[in-house]
Formats: sequence, C-alpha cells, structure tokens
Amino acid sequence: PELFLPERRNSKGWDLADGPTLAAIDKARGAYRDHAFTSAPLIADHTPDGPSEPVQNPADADDVVGHVTWATTGDVDKALDAACIWDVPALERAEILNRAADLYQENFGPFFALMAREAGKTLPDAVSELREAVDFLRYYAAQAQNHDTPPVGVFICISPWNFPLAIFTGQIAASLATGNATLAKPAEQTPLIAHFAVSLLHKAGVPPHTLQLLPGDGRIGAALTSDARVGGVCFTGSTDTAQMIRRAMAKNLTPGAPLIAETGGLNAMIVDSTALPEQAVRDVVQSAFQSAGQRCSALRCLYVQEDIAKGFTKMLTGAMDELTVGGPWDLSCDVGPVIDDEAQAGIDAYIAAAKTEGRVIKQLARPNAGHFVPPTLLRVDGIGEMEREIFGPVLHIATFRADGLDRVIGDINASGYGLTFGLHTRIDDRVQHVVERLQAGNIYVNRNQIGAVVGSQPFGGEGLSGTGPKAGGEEYLLRFLQHETPEVED
Ligand code: SER
Repeated sequence: PELFLPERRNSKGWDLADGPTLAAIDKARGAYRDHAFTSAPLIADHTPDGPSEPVQNPADADDVVGHVTWATTGDVDKALDAACIWDVPALERAEILNRAADLYQENFGPFFALMAREAGKTLPDAVSELREAVDFLRYYAAQAQNHDTPPVGVFICISPWNFPLAIFTGQIAASLATGNATLAKPAEQTPLIAHFAVSLLHKAGVPPHTLQLLPGDGRIGAALTSDARVGGVCFTGSTDTAQMIRRAMAKNLTPGAPLIAETGGLNAMIVDSTALPEQAVRDVVQSAFQSAGQRCSALRCLYVQEDIAKGFTKMLTGAMDELTVGGPWDLSCDVGPVIDDEAQAGIDAYIAAAKTEGRVIKQLARPNAGHFVPPTLLRVDGIGEMEREIFGPVLHIATFRADGLDRVIGDINASGYGLTFGLHTRIDDRVQHVVERLQAGNIYVNRNQIGAVVGSQPFGGEGLSGTGPKAGGEEYLLRFLQHETPEVED
C-alpha cells in the first residue's frame, strides 16, 4: 500500500522576548492561578472510589493546586479487564493524535499554570515542555505510518514528575500511535497535569477503553507490571525502579515482553583550555541549574583543564550569583523549587556532608519558604567519588591536566552510566578523539547538554542509563509493535 507521510514540523512555540506574546501568556495562565484542578482514575465503564488527597505547590505550601483521587489495586484490575487495542488504520489514529496536539496548544494557559503550580516549572521550562509534548504527538503520529505490524497489546506507561507533560505524553503517544491499549501511571507528584492531558486526548477522539489513567504510587506501578495481561512496559525514572520492573516482568509476563526504560545518569562535561570561557560558563549554568537540575540530562560533574580552572571557577561562581531562585510563577525566576520535601531533605543532607568535608565552593541563598535547594557548587577529584545521581541543582567540579584527558574519559565511562555528555573545545581533532571514546547516548559539543529536540536529537542513554531505543527517534515505535519474523527463503 502507498504510505501516507504527512509533512511534520516541530511546534513553533512562543517568543517570550515579545511583549504582547508574554502579556497574552500571562493573562491566559493567570485565569488558572487559583483554579482548583482535579485528578482521578479514568477507567472505562468504572467509577473509582479510592481515597482523595490535596496536591500542594512545591514552592508554596499555602497553594493547594487541586485534589487527586488515587487509583486502587482493584482499579488496576478493572482497567486491565476493560483495555482494548485501537483497531483502526494508522492514519485515523494519527489524525486523532494530531488533533490532540492542537488541543494541547490551545490549552497553553491551564498547562502553563499547572506546570508552575504542580511541578515548580519556570515559564521558559513550561513553554519548552508543552512544545516537546506537542512534538511527540505529531512525530509518533507521522512515524506510525511507516509500520503495518500489529501492536503488542496492553502497554503500561510509567512516567516521572520532572517532565510531567512531555515524557508522560511521549510515552502514551508512542503506545497509542501504534494502536496499543494504553494504561498510564503518572508520577504521584504530578497527577493533575496527567489528568488534564488525558482529558484532552479523550476529547480529541482517543477511545476511553484504549487510553486509561491510573494515578497512584509505586504500588499501582507494581500491580500493573506484574500482571500477565500486560504485553509491554515503557518506563522513565530511576535505575533501581527499572530493575525492579524488569524482575517483576520476568516473573509474570510473557517471555520477551518489551521493557523500554529511560533511567538515570551521572552526566559529565569536559572544558579544555581552548574553550571560549564565556560560552562554556553559560552552557554549564544552563546544563546544571536550569529546571533546578531536575533533568536526567543535567550536568553533574564538570571537568575543567587545570590551566584555566581558577579563572573559570571565578567566572562560574559569578554567573551563579546572577541566578534568581524563587517561586516559578514569577517571570524573573531562573531556578524554582525541587519537587517535594523528601527531595529537598535528601539533597540538603548530601550538601551538608560535603560541607563537613570542606568541599562547598559556592552556595546561593535559600528562599524562606517552599521546597528550595539553592544552586550549589562542590569540589570533587573526579566522577569516581560520586556514587549516585543527586537530582537537583548541585554541580561537582574537578580539574584535569593537559595529558590526563584519556584518564578522564576512562573515569566517565567507568561510572557505568551513559546518558548525556558535553564537550567544550576549539580543537577539531579533540572533538573526534573524545566522541569516538566517550560512551553516552547524547553528546553535545560547544553548547549546553539539555533539551533534546524531538525528531532531530533522539534522546536516550546506554548502560545503566537506559535500554534504548531513543525517544523521538525513528527506532522508538518498533518496540511497541509485535516483532516480525523475517521470512527465510529456500
Ligand atoms: N529530554 C530531556 C532533555 O534532553 C530529558 O531530561 O533535557
């Protein structure tokens, strides 16, 4: 059959430097500044009756963003019974997903309000996130035209709070574009955004038996990933949770059931003595502190060549002084809160231990209320000292000697993770040398290392950082489809 390949473009977005555009955004989101949002399980032919709880703004304990009714394990059973694949031509599914993309864009006001109030996102972060979600919908809708294999069946999508719209939508868009019955379990910190998004997908025409929502904690995820009715799982979150899911699937699901996992990273950047310092400092600050460091792609360990380290560190701490830490609704905010009190306490304890060891080079002041961790710079000898990912605005800095580059590459590879990596140098041969040896899914040269763009920078890691295939890339949908066995000719 002739394939339908619609012309696809990434979303245009909004120009925040344009006064009238910014005023229009501020007005649209302002209508939802005090709105009480709701979330509840969306299960076909079933009314949930689980416990209900308020959802609080991580930057402001007085702001109750809305209420969530949690899914129960009984709801999981009902949802699995009700689940139906989306048995219509790929073109029809694509049209509905494209319509959902339009609805997402039209609803930028509530989305921007929700992302600030429920997830602590600054406006620029919220804008990028909505664009990414829209791009995922349109990208997978278009990609699905390239395949005519049946879906796996029932797919579970378990998504994180740090991209409560983009990753949440990316997973379900891939699962739906390929026709799977999709059960989404959003992070328990961000059920309101998920519910709003699924309501728009249903409004666009995704059938209620094909896309169901189960807001809940790890118990709901555990019940879903250990049920024999499930055909595959798509997960983004910690490496430890991914391993638990892998074990549960191995015990209970059909052998070979696909698990697509995007997990943690210990991401590094190398800045050599030929780098343009002004540019490198800007890219380091964005990579480490934008989104309060709560990106799996964020820079954790910076290696600066020792010949320039003193001056570079001074410029870096100066640039940190320019950051505004505070409530993300405020347009001047650069660094918002971390997601909740547990995250804040964990990161604070880590920094306190570094303080007793005299390793804190710089820490900004902490706003009075809310779950804030101020951007912090810590001295380390190398990435080998870092046992785990600290998911917040904490940057480690180490130095290396001109003849020690290969050892640094070896140390970064030895961490076992391999998500993003950044390099700042003006020597072309060095770019080649490092890129050939460094093991990371996404390598960025002379720029920041966050914000992969759907379709042009497929995103995903190696080793402990993920299973692949990369999100927003051509291979991704293959794992949501039944495998074709190649015909062997005599
Ligand atoms: N896709 C995101 C990024 O590139 C993941 O954190 O930043």
